[in-house]
Amino acid sequence: MANWWKEAVAYQIYPRSFKDSNGDGIGDLNGISEKLDYLKDLGIDLIWICPMYKSPNDDNGYDISDYQEIMAEFGSMADFDRLLEQVHARGMRLIIDLVVNHTSDEHPWFLESRSSRNNPKRGWYIWRDSKNGAEPNNWEGIFKGSAWEFDPQTQQYYLHLFTRRQPDLNWENHDVRRAVYDMMRWWLDKGIDGFRIDAIAHLKKEPLLDDVPNPDKLRYAPAMKSHLNYDGLLDYVDDMSRNVLQHYDIVTVGEMNGLYAENAEEWVGEHRGRLNMVFQFEHVRLWEPEAGLRPEPAALKRIFTAWQEALEGKGWNALYVENHDLTRITSRWGDTEHYWRESATCIAALYFLMQGTPFIYQGQEIGMTNTRFEGLEDFDDVSAKNMWREMAEQGKSEEEIIAFLTNTGRDNSRTPMQWNAWPNAGFSDAKPWFKVNANYEMINVASQQQDPDSVLNFYRALIQLRRQERTLIYGRYVLELEGHSQIYAYSRMLEGVEFVVLCNMSSKSARWSEAELSLDGARFVLGNYAPVEETYRLHAWEARVYKL
Ligand code: NOJ
Repeated sequence: MANWWKEAVAYQIYPRSFKDSNGDGIGDLNGISEKLDYLKDLGIDLIWICPMYKSPNDDNGYDISDYQEIMAEFGSMADFDRLLEQVHARGMRLIIDLVVNHTSDEHPWFLESRSSRNNPKRGWYIWRDSKNGAEPNNWEGIFKGSAWEFDPQTQQYYLHLFTRRQPDLNWENHDVRRAVYDMMRWWLDKGIDGFRIDAIAHLKKEPLLDDVPNPDKLRYAPAMKSHLNYDGLLDYVDDMSRNVLQHYDIVTVGEMNGLYAENAEEWVGEHRGRLNMVFQFEHVRLWEPEAGLRPEPAALKRIFTAWQEALEGKGWNALYVENHDLTRITSRWGDTEHYWRESATCIAALYFLMQGTPFIYQGQEIGMTNTRFEGLEDFDDVSAKNMWREMAEQGKSEEEIIAFLTNTGRDNSRTPMQWNAWPNAGFSDAKPWFKVNANYEMINVASQQQDPDSVLNFYRALIQLRRQERTLIYGRYVLELEGHSQIYAYSRMLEGVEFVVLCNMSSKSARWSEAELSLDGARFVLGNYAPVEETYRLHAWEARVYKL
């Protein structure tokens, strides 16, 4: 079924690092408003902004202390309303982050809940007695350390899957759900166009909160099995959908770690009435250090193809390769040393033209790269700091820790947006809250706007092409050259129209034969090397799109 959000190209904004309008070194809502023409011109239809709510910023806004208030550093509710109005005036749409697995420990709900054991909101969070003088169970939090924090006043522990300042809401509690739904309706009635639902995979916990097996005899054991996509989670999604989502013409994207292609339809099947899309994590797992630095094309083919096939005619994919929790894709999958532009554009073509709604993370469209860290003081992210502490306790050297965090740390994607070659990369007139990547004089929006061959103009061309060709939106995906070790190729087909996308995911040239995939009579429509020199050979990181 055709839908506006299927035809849309989405752009993710991390407000703190996007554009500072008032000279305090911190990005803000008016800064986003200033850049709407840039986004419109790029071809963006849908904007997702990461949390802009009131927050003590333990996890940069993912710890919310008031869902109906804007973080003072980002502006005011009037600024938000103006932003929304200006987005709509340009024919674009806006979705916001819905963070309801947890609140901040400064949220009034939690303050009440922790005030006494018989407070009416005690059951809004997950409180337990200690067990044998220790935590109620051995669960490790997602950001390391115990998932429990002791509250001296009431002598119990509360559960927090993320930082200790992000207590988990108790989704078993009907009053919690009612309060969350009221808040969601309040935003929807304001006119926002949907939600990206944070950490939805973790809402449901193993009911007994039992210890997890701990063969390695760790102090706390990884406990994902007890709260990641746990049995019964979909009942919560159905409840939210029945009570809120179904009553609005909106788009929803759930952040869904722990979901695999074979079960994707349960979540986003069109007849299910649950979510429209999920951000699945299977390809993200290939980021993990133990998976090596650059994934094999075979692994990418297996994962993306499984998702494309699982949802064909049944549901819809959210396509993404970057976000604020990941390192920069060109640093991760590409070759920034020898083929920065080529690999940035090749990866763009690879994911962008599959079936689904493509999301671009701020800076991805200019090929921003990972940054450099020299010491602990260069990190901001709470999870990086926790990791630092843990690795130091394990006896790792400073060099080893920095090397690890350089390849994996979320701070890489949170450096200020590189607008131009002026001081602070044009992000702010003041010293930015977080160090600008040293390469901003080379990689920035202003210079790429002038350059017809830039990464930015390649993204623009991809967006235009997708917009002109229904086949590239709705067409069926078919993997081509399946066994090729360098080339990722696929076609898209709709009502007799066919496109072929070819991407050489390596720093060496790559050949295939006409017998394997013929381009006889095909018309070249887009590529990152021009002109085409040899039909059946791709240069390093060359990407081409043909219409058959
Ligand atoms: C996922 C968000 O994307 C991440 O940034 C955040 O730290 C956690 N959820 C906790 O809210």
